[in-house]
Amino acid sequence: MLTLIICLLPLASTVSVEVGEISEAETWKNLIVDIDNGTLKHVRFAENTDYTKLNLSSFPGLRALEKNSFDNVLDIESLVLANNSFTSLPDFVFSNLTKLKSLSLSDNQISNVRNLFVGLENLQLLDISRNPIRHFGRGHLFSLTKSVRILTNENILWSISTGVFENSFLKDAEELKRLAATQDQGNVKENEKKEQEVEKAEIATAEEPQDQKIVETLSEHTRLKICKSDGIVTSLEIFSKDEELVEGCVQVPVDISMQVSLVELGIKGFQEDWYRLQSLPIVSLDLSNNEIAEITKETLNDLPSGLTYVNFQGNKIRKIWSQVIENDHLNVLNLRNNLIEEIEEGALAKTNLRELYLAGNQLKSLDFVFSLPNSLTVLLANGNHIISIPDGAFSKLFRLNYLYLDDNKIEAVQNDVFQGLVSLLTLTLARNDIKTIGPSAFRGLRTLQTLDLRHNSIHDLRKGTLAELIGLKQLNLSNNKIVKATFADLARSVDSLHLDYNEIDILEEGNFVQTPTSTLSLTGNRISSIMRGAFNLPTLRDLYLNNNTLTTIEGDSYEGLNRLRRLWLSENKISEIRKGACKNLGSLYILDISKNPFQKLENGALYGLNTAFGTSLYIYQNNLTEIQGGVFDDI
Ligand SMILES: *[C@@H]1O[C@H](CO)[C@@H](O)[C@H](O)[C@H]1NC(C)=O
Ligand SMILES: *[C@@H]1O[C@H](CO)[C@@H](O)[C@H](O)[C@H]1NC(C)=O
Ligand SMILES: *[C@@H]1O[C@H](CO)[C@@H](O)[C@H](O)[C@H]1NC(C)=O
Ligand SMILES: *[C@@H]1O[C@H](CO)[C@@H](O)[C@H](O)[C@H]1NC(C)=O
Ligand SMILES: *[C@@H]1O[C@H](CO)[C@@H](O)[C@H](O)[C@H]1NC(C)=O
Ligand SMILES: *[C@@H]1O[C@H](CO)[C@@H](O)[C@H](O)[C@H]1NC(C)=O
Ligand SMILES: *[C@@H]1O[C@H](CO)[C@@H](O)[C@H](O)[C@H]1NC(C)=O
Repeated sequence: MLTLIICLLPLASTVSVEVGEISEAETWKNLIVDIDNGTLKHVRFAENTDYTKLNLSSFPGLRALEKNSFDNVLDIESLVLANNSFTSLPDFVFSNLTKLKSLSLSDNQISNVRNLFVGLENLQLLDISRNPIRHFGRGHLFSLTKSVRILTNENILWSISTGVFENSFLKDAEELKRLAATQDQGNVKENEKKEQEVEKAEIATAEEPQDQKIVETLSEHTRLKICKSDGIVTSLEIFSKDEELVEGCVQVPVDISMQVSLVELGIKGFQEDWYRLQSLPIVSLDLSNNEIAEITKETLNDLPSGLTYVNFQGNKIRKIWSQVIENDHLNVLNLRNNLIEEIEEGALAKTNLRELYLAGNQLKSLDFVFSLPNSLTVLLANGNHIISIPDGAFSKLFRLNYLYLDDNKIEAVQNDVFQGLVSLLTLTLARNDIKTIGPSAFRGLRTLQTLDLRHNSIHDLRKGTLAELIGLKQLNLSNNKIVKATFADLARSVDSLHLDYNEIDILEEGNFVQTPTSTLSLTGNRISSIMRGAFNLPTLRDLYLNNNTLTTIEGDSYEGLNRLRRLWLSENKISEIRKGACKNLGSLYILDISKNPFQKLENGALYGLNTAFGTSLYIYQNNLTEIQGGVFDDI
């Protein structure tokens, strides 16, 4: 390292001398310009010229400025540096040009304007059109006054901080961080809560906690083998050290969590007495992706009591017969992605199943539910061809927590159809053909927390239909045909309400009262008008109004949103933003007005947003041509 420096030093000084010699002095329209290898070093006016205007636009080879470039032209009022190849400029480079009224930096490659305009208190016009600036951060336009017009044609701006005109030198970084932290705290806590809920809601799949003593009985040398004849399993047993595998037998893996994998072995069926691992504490058998067409008496009935989970996913089972399965210790039966068309009455009655997975089969009816064991806590029958829910089907399933019926062909949800589900937490009916919901369809679901009715054809919900869901937290009615937003009677427990992609065109006073408490999503409706009093939501954090047809931000519309943190108005038709728009939005820290056709942000337009902690304004894909220096002020 040391030798390297010694060698380089003399070299470097030689180069610098040579550069000095080749520096060119050029006259450019009455200017004497000193440019050294693309960097402007000095500029001054020749005799008898206008000392107030300096125009260096499209200057051949100009790429950079030196910090003191303008020391000889301190009286200029107009400076044009347009159409050069500047990528960045030195901090404070214009700071001594205190008489400057007009500055053009258009058509360059400048991406950061931080500390550039400090001192330009007389500036009236700043043209930064066609530069790759993505963010106007806090303090980036400090010093510019209310009377400056900032031209931003063909910009790629993504966000503007409401603190962009503030003096970022005043407040020290610590103070700002503290402010930001107090702002975010509520939010962080909320996220943590959400995460916990999600975790809780995740369906536990099988496996009991491991008993340490039992684990030890399976030594790392234990090997298993399965033997078959014509696809019929004749035995699954321990495969001792000195033994050799005979034809028809293969070794199979058993893992530390006591699961035996019998995946993709071409298994078609089982011979009596096939399971011979009674001496091992096996808890789970994975029979996925075999050729099993039927569960017979031999399949499950003689499994030991510790074996609680059997996975038949991806087999070819067509029917579950009654009088076959008798196993009172099996907890979880996974029959996903088979070809099941029918489950005979009572077929699973002689089990104590807790979780039954039937997703991705060919079931047309839910009649089998009547005779399911009342031990059931999880029932997944999504992705079948079920056309209706029979009355009273669930009346015995008082332990059921999760019921998934998405992706079926259910057309109606009649009154009292879920009666008996007194422990239900989650009910999903997304992507059916539901058109009608009886006014007491959800009666009795007093513990329900999540109701998913996405992608149906629901036109309206009679008053009171959802009122009885007194524990409801999340309600998803996205992608339906709802025209009127009549949700004033939702229980106070609802924290998020999704009404995206419906047909709501107007929001009226009293539409939302106290609930939802956290998130209201109305993306992709046809909302063109929001009456004062539509949102009486004093705790709401997020309001999504993206992709509607609003033409302006009407200040009165947002009354009653005292704690709103984020307002999403992207993809509307907002062509004008007038003073008063943000009078009720002082608690925001994100205002998204991206993808709207407005062209100007004039003085006063965004007055009301908080500038102290720096709300972010998202404006990507905009057609903004001008921002005025007093856009956040009371002008
Ligand atoms: C001229 O500037 C370029 C980049 O700006 C640099 O790579 C080059 O070495 C410079 N040439 C001399 C002679 O200093
Ligand atoms: C600056 O000079 C260019 C030509 O080099 C001209 O096109 C442009 O109009 C001038 N700008 C001003 C503000 O005088
Ligand atoms: C920008 O500069 C280039 C040469 O660098 C020139 O051909 C072009 O006409 C200039 N554009 C404008 C708008 O002045
Ligand atoms: C501005 O003027 C001050 C005082 O004359 C000087 O110290 C400073 O270097 C100048 N700044 C620039 C960017 O020319
Ligand atoms: C509700 O539906 C929307 C749109 O389909 C989806 O983005 C969102 O994640 C869903 N939320 C819940 C809680 O189901
Ligand atoms: C916006 O909504 C319209 C219909 O309301 C839909 O066609 C379009 O895809 C939506 N855009 C986005 C980005 O969601
Ligand atoms: C911006 O203007 C262009 C051209 O007039 C138009 O195609 C585009 O949709 C506009 N963008 C927005 C967000 O309105």
